[in-house]
Amino acid sequence: MPVVSHVWPMVQPASVKAVVASVANGLQAVEVAAQMDNLIRNVADHFEAEERLLGAAGFEGLPGHAAAHGKLMERAVFLVNHYRNARLPIGDLLQFLMQDLIAAHVMVEDLSCFAPGAAEAV
Ligand SMILES: [Fe+2]
Repeated sequence: MPVVSHVWPMVQPASVKAVVASVANGLQAVEVAAQMDNLIRNVADHFEAEERLLGAAGFEGLPGHAAAHGKLMERAVFLVNHYRNARLPIGDLLQFLMQDLIAAHVMVEDLSCFAPGAAEAV
């Protein structure tokens, strides 16, 4: 059963750009962390909507996919808090947010769930 992808809410590019801009413009850690908090909220909203759509479509891999969302969100909050408390370099945080969370999960893994036939292909 193909999922109707046009109703799937994407992560807002503006929230990703705001994080990158805050780092590039040399803002204080508290301001960078605030932008990252906003991005995490945006990604959490995206994950919640995605899980509703996958559930409605009968996606068999939903339990595992939702568990992956939970682990990513838990890790994101942990790393942002460590960055905020000066216990994590900005590069390590950006690598997780941009590579693991956005690129690997949202841009690759998520899209595979919404491919035609994905609901049956788990
Ligand atoms: Fe996902």
